[in-house]
Amino acid sequence: MKKITIAIDGYSSCGKSTMAKDLAREIGYVYVDSGAMYRTVALYALDHNLIKDGKIDEEGLRKSMKDIEISFQFNAERGRPDTYLNGVRVEDRIRTLEVSNHVSPVAALGFVREEMVRQQQRMGQEGGIIMDGRDIGTTVFPNAELKIFVTASPEIRAQRRYDELTAKGEACDMKEILRNVEERDYIDTHREISPLRQADDALVLDNSHLTIDEQKEWLLRAYQHAIDN
Ligand code: DC
Repeated sequence: MKKITIAIDGYSSCGKSTMAKDLAREIGYVYVDSGAMYRTVALYALDHNLIKDGKIDEEGLRKSMKDIEISFQFNAERGRPDTYLNGVRVEDRIRTLEVSNHVSPVAALGFVREEMVRQQQRMGQEGGIIMDGRDIGTTVFPNAELKIFVTASPEIRAQRRYDELTAKGEACDMKEILRNVEERDYIDTHREISPLRQADDALVLDNSHLTIDEQKEWLLRAYQHAIDN
């Protein structure tokens, strides 16, 4: 069967990675979470004092890019890949609110995006890949056979994020999370390079009121249609 490229883009916390990961497992594709890569660069910057009082030391980070090696290793227990920074597992550390609060400005830097896009395109050379992010259908894989643009209301996304963090035992405040979601939406859609936008040929999925099962069904139908055509 032909192996296609699937690009899933959309706002933060709208369940892109869960759906991408589930579909990848179902159809035997490789799943890559491109947001995890930007989060890993932000984590590196925080760990190396390249972000101070919210301000990024751009020159310092530019010079450090060659020292940042990001990789993924499939974790059978979680059913999805874990993220590694220079050989050390950072999957949990990149999901904290601290990283969430600093990642958007890092992801807006041209030299960071250039390097990440280069690595992402290399990962997708063979097809048979599902990648989720913000610019996958527009910049990374503009020729992807299936492009999906996912959206949900900011309040619903904040609630999902809140539930996720509290389930992990992280203390959090709903108002702060909603603010973070809205702020990230703004930065992601307004940045100069590769802003988040729907590709002209993307299918739109608003999952505000869909159950996980309904979403899965929708996605499988979209995939089936893409490989039949
Ligand atoms: O999907 P996420 O919330 O884990 O993404 C983290 C950040 O990285 C978010 O601010 C958007 C940014 N990002 C991006 O600019 N381009 C991508 N392809 C993926 C994520």
